[in-house]
Amino acid sequence: MTDAELIAAADAIASRAYAPYSRYPVGAAVLAADGTVFTGANVENASYGLSVCAERVAIFTAAAAGRRRLRAVAVVTGSSQPAAPCGACRQVMAEFGVQTVYLAGPRGPYRERRFADMLPQAFTAEALR
Ligand code: THU
Repeated sequence: MTDAELIAAADAIASRAYAPYSRYPVGAAVLAADGTVFTGANVENASYGLSVCAERVAIFTAAAAGRRRLRAVAVVTGSSQPAAPCGACRQVMAEFGVQTVYLAGPRGPYRERRFADMLPQAFTAEALR
């Protein structure tokens, strides 16, 4: 699975977003440590605060399929510039050991980010010991 293939998977699933309120579809694809890929799109709700981001849909799908070690997440939005994941999604990425995040818009170059730079000093299970 190349970076470009992971981003293409995220781009493809963005068309499944349920985003009638924001009209901001987002697609995400997660590469698990064993090389398998899981995808998700944002799912909104008339009670706006219940909406869930594409990244969490994809990560929870991977976790529910038994993948607890994740290598990378690709995110595709419709913004002219690639958008960065929200804080809640970064915290969920930290839980499953994401190393790399790829951010892409509908066209143009994508950006590669080290997860450690996106959420330094994350709260993790370590703190609960
Ligand atoms: N959203 C995502 O799915 N991922 C992000 O990284 C940022 C925001 C969604 C949430 C909501 O459905 C819409 O985009 C606008 O905030």
